[in-house]
Amino acid sequence: MTQKKLKLKLKPKFKKIFLVIGIILVILLILLFIYLNKRGELSSLGYSDKAIDSIFQKFKVSYVEEVGENKMINAAFESKDYKEKNLESYEKIEYQDQKDIIKNVNTLLDKGYKTSEISLILSRGDNDSVTEFAKRDKVNYLDEFLSVDYAKLKNLDRYVAYQEQEHEDAETTVLYVNLDFDKEDYEDPLEITDFDPDVLVNKHRQLTEDYVPEDLETFDEEDTKADEKVKANKEVVDAFAEMKEAASEEGLTLMVSSGYRSYQDQEEITNTYLEAYGQNYVNNYVAKPGFSEHQTGMSIDVASGTENIFVESDEYSWMMDNAYLYGFILRYPKSKEDITGYKCEAWHYRYVGKKIASYIKEHDITYDEYYVMFLDK
Ligand code: DAL
Ligand code: ZN
Repeated sequence: MTQKKLKLKLKPKFKKIFLVIGIILVILLILLFIYLNKRGELSSLGYSDKAIDSIFQKFKVSYVEEVGENKMINAAFESKDYKEKNLESYEKIEYQDQKDIIKNVNTLLDKGYKTSEISLILSRGDNDSVTEFAKRDKVNYLDEFLSVDYAKLKNLDRYVAYQEQEHEDAETTVLYVNLDFDKEDYEDPLEITDFDPDVLVNKHRQLTEDYVPEDLETFDEEDTKADEKVKANKEVVDAFAEMKEAASEEGLTLMVSSGYRSYQDQEEITNTYLEAYGQNYVNNYVAKPGFSEHQTGMSIDVASGTENIFVESDEYSWMMDNAYLYGFILRYPKSKEDITGYKCEAWHYRYVGKKIASYIKEHDITYDEYYVMFLDK
């Protein structure tokens, strides 16, 4: 009874206070609901928590909602280098996963590059090469070379120099420079540190002396035509067995005369051929130690079981027509000596897998070209 009286007595005053508090609470709840809802929307568009915080702080929620999903805008709001004046440009530039992307984009915009040019610059470089490039005065001949899919930003000056000298079209220039044709053979070679089975080894790309491939397997003795055991990568040995079987169904005998060769093996071979045939022969037919594909374990020299001169054998003709079906390519063809850097070797086959071998066969290109166009990162 006492309580009821007290309640009744305080009621008008509390009613007002409760009403105000209630209204404030409802408003706060609605605002919280809208805030959480917007965060959820931005998150579902791919924006990170860090970017969303910054979008709210900068009052850009409706702008971002209108843009929708955009990795570059997300990176811009995540970055301490964000500049409001560049917001609409960020939106038009294609994102790349590069640490200093926003800082570099700001610099490139300040230098007067168009957003389409910046997209090209970013896509042809990595973080470091874009950062270096951004320090330069504006370059006006970007499109000519960087429009080629496999152009590299860091090679831009070399493309210009090579084209001035050789007058090739832009695509050929990019291809040849990426293959280091603007350098002498063996000059300043790239040292291969990350080995994978697709590796390209040629007169500009070197394996280290201690590199020995994993997964080496020995060929069956009856399949080899050599004084010692012949080994290669397991996949290569298996593919050769499948190919040999197919050839034997047509009465032909495929053999291997060489497979994996260590750095030291290659050194010995080089010295033997040097003594027997001289430097010119070695330059044309024998790779320097470290520069031989045989050290990868992915190459074999094929021989005929019946004929001593391979190029005169039926096995040679069969290989020319069918090797690609088993993942092998003739690595140093006659028509491509200028590209491979070696005189034709009718016997030297590289295993690249069926898909790549078919492409190379169909398009009549070398592995050097294929590698630059599709695999060189
Ligand atoms: N005969 C090839 C080029 C080599 O020595 O690897
Ligand atoms: Zn060979």
